[in-house]
Amino acid sequence: MSVLNIRGRQKLEGFLSVQGSKNGALPLMAAALLHEGTTILHNIPHILDVHFMIQILEALGCICTFEGGTLAIDASVLQGAQLPREQVGRMRSSIFLIGPLLGRCQEAVTYQPGGCSIGERPIDLHLWGLRQMNVDITEEEGTICLSTGGLTGKEMTLAFPSVGATENILMAAVKANGTTVIKNAAREPEIVQLCLCLNRMGAKIQGIGSKTLRIDGVTALHDSEWTNQGDRIAAATYLAAVAACGGEAVLHGIEASQLYSVLSVLSLSGCEVFCGTSSVCIRSLEPLRRVPYIRTSPFPGFPTDMQSPILALFSVVPGETVIEETIFENRFQVVGELGKMGAQIETDGTRARICGVRMLHGACVRARDLRGGAALVVAGLAAHGTTRIEDCSHIQRGYEDLEKRLVRLGADIRLEEETQTQSANRA
Ligand code: UD1
Repeated sequence: MSVLNIRGRQKLEGFLSVQGSKNGALPLMAAALLHEGTTILHNIPHILDVHFMIQILEALGCICTFEGGTLAIDASVLQGAQLPREQVGRMRSSIFLIGPLLGRCQEAVTYQPGGCSIGERPIDLHLWGLRQMNVDITEEEGTICLSTGGLTGKEMTLAFPSVGATENILMAAVKANGTTVIKNAAREPEIVQLCLCLNRMGAKIQGIGSKTLRIDGVTALHDSEWTNQGDRIAAATYLAAVAACGGEAVLHGIEASQLYSVLSVLSLSGCEVFCGTSSVCIRSLEPLRRVPYIRTSPFPGFPTDMQSPILALFSVVPGETVIEETIFENRFQVVGELGKMGAQIETDGTRARICGVRMLHGACVRARDLRGGAALVVAGLAAHGTTRIEDCSHIQRGYEDLEKRLVRLGADIRLEEETQTQSANRA
């Protein structure tokens, strides 16, 4: 088990280069399956989820070479369309491999991904969309078998702009017969990037960035290279950390336009924010002000992935802030851990009411999910004394070299890889 030890109350100052996007990289890697050749992806972060995805691609027969931040995926020969059960269990986002597999092999076998710690996360919209495109789906004892006599383009309207369902349907549509129109599609920057990358590979997608995507099916793609965008959620997490600790930092490698809703909240709280070409500067000098109400919603709204880190930030801003979570039903798990550090937060269904305190204190806490873990880091950096965060593998799923990046900003944070014996002794 890995553990982070943080001695809080250090100002954060300096320059930080933002990692490549996790939620951008994973669908790009899935898209490589559509092409019987090589796709080269740059700026891919070294995080656990990327390594799990590489294992799945290799199990399917791809040859993957990952050096520096460049990942070459040779998908010339696939050995089958059955996803490896163990990795599917580990990584929920394996679900969006079924669209590309159907496009490539006309079949896919996967498993019902278990309920995730942040909510039920059903896959009904993914399967509904694929059924519209002439895919037969059977499910028995958790095994989902999908096959098609030929993917057929279709016009459809998603009941909710699901990121994963949009990605899956979009990738299946790239090689379908005829035209697919997805209405009420998700518009997250990761979807925009996926469409642009697919077009670079030879797909024909229009309406990119809008709620309606039109995909004209093609028969083949070609070798291509793509540079993954910066991670807007990782960037926003570091901005929240600087806001909570005080200081001034410049983040490079991120499009400020993707962070608009987060930057608005930080500005309202009294931080000074300056946006450059692919950089953002934050200055947090004065005591911050509460922001009365924040509500998560699909892009361009406030991202659900930033809800936990922003909860940690407003725990140390005097006054009351209410956060409403509208995307995932179980995303306030971190509240109990923040409470151990002195935070005063009450939850009631989809709302968290934060009564900001002057100071948190260090404690021994546990990361239960990726963004909740990031929230504990923000809280630990702002808290008086030492915080020990256990189960940091959740954080390592999505944040590349988090502690090294924060040390460069002046934080006192150390990663400790605990041996199994140490962990057993402690238990
Ligand atoms: C993606 C992101 C995740 C982010 C989320 C919302 C990746 C790898 N993950 O997750 O970090 O928090 O978008 O921005 O990119 N839903 C259904 N049925 C479905 C699919 C989704 O009811 O078939 C519901 C979900 O339960 C949830 C909501 O729709 O309540 C949003 O889910 P979705 O946008 O699909 O999120 P993910 O793609 O899983």
